[in-house]
Amino acid sequence: MSGPLHTILCDLLGCRYPIVQTAMGWVADAKLTAATCNAGGFGFLAGATIEPGKVEAAIADVRARTDRPFGVNFHMFQPNAEEVLEAVIRNRVRAVSYGRGPDARTIRRLKDAGIVCMPTVGALKHAVKAVELGADVVTIQGGEGGGHTGAVPTTVLLPQVLDAVKVPVVAAGGFADGRGLVAALAFGAAGIAMGTRFLMTTDSPVPRSTLDRYLKAKDASQIKVSTAVDGLPQRFIENEELKRIEEMALPARLAMSARYARRWGKEAGLGPVGMARLALRVMSGDDGGFRSTVMAANLPMLVQRGVVAGDPVHGLLPSGQVAARIDRLESCAELIGGIVEEARARIAALSALSAAD
Ligand SMILES: Cc1cc2nc3c(=O)[nH]c(=O)nc-3n(C[C@H](O)[C@H](O)[C@H](O)COP(=O)(O)O)c2cc1C
Repeated sequence: MSGPLHTILCDLLGCRYPIVQTAMGWVADAKLTAATCNAGGFGFLAGATIEPGKVEAAIADVRARTDRPFGVNFHMFQPNAEEVLEAVIRNRVRAVSYGRGPDARTIRRLKDAGIVCMPTVGALKHAVKAVELGADVVTIQGGEGGGHTGAVPTTVLLPQVLDAVKVPVVAAGGFADGRGLVAALAFGAAGIAMGTRFLMTTDSPVPRSTLDRYLKAKDASQIKVSTAVDGLPQRFIENEELKRIEEMALPARLAMSARYARRWGKEAGLGPVGMARLALRVMSGDDGGFRSTVMAANLPMLVQRGVVAGDPVHGLLPSGQVAARIDRLESCAELIGGIVEEARARIAALSALSAAD
């Protein structure tokens, strides 16, 4: 297949269109991933939030729903990172995505198994480092993107990274339609990656009560970055829970984190002594690094309450600013079909302009 929408990304990933559905914790499940792939895009399964012992079954679930290639996301700091690595290699998954973390040896191990290594970065220096470590493709995420995010907008980060690295670059952060795809290709990107837009589809597992809250978010300035939840900048729709956490004094926030950490500790099988030690260290509060590690326990509990349990008031709603532009839910097939149609129309209009010159 050829044409302006067939890029090197399509060859590397084995997809029809250069449109990637990014991994989103608890959201990018087997159904969403497979629906993206069946529609001609490339989906990443959110492997970083799959419980230990269940990775193989999740990969098999995607395989049962599509015969198209797909990818798996992971973090080196998740407790079952090795389980994910072994599963993607054994199953010959087409690509992996990750943030900072895997070293050159781990990346070599994946590449030797024929897996495309495709990290996401939010800053120029991280893109350069990722390529040095062996990345085949780099996804840049501009600051307007959802989830943990950087401070540099897509329109600045994308050309900076394109100028600095020789591997294909995929643009993420703020994309939702065919205009964005053509703009990214015009910059020189090999394709686009979208999180929020895929979260807001009828193939997404997010309950309708929560999706309605995403649909109601019409002011992009109220889809804001907060460091109050786990100490790192992350973009959320401003809701009751986010306001409550932001207004909490630090000791109260740490006490809340300690409660979540205790629950985590129980799930992880920590005995009473281990948990007492954990509590003591939280209460002494003299270790900044440890403090933010404990605060990290807030995120999974509160995000799951929002996007899994369907409570948009007491849970958190990670989102890109682009949610403010999205006013309806479509299936992945309708979404990707519409993006391709609009992109082709924009390219034809540009060609007509240049022919008139
Ligand atoms: C609900 C949600 C959960 C996310 N979870 C993850 C994750 O687990 N791992 C990850 O690398 N990125 C995660 N992200 C970031 C996305 O993969 C993606 O890079 C980002 O959404 C792109 O910006 P956009 O939302 O403007 O399309 C998440 C984003 C959202 C909206």
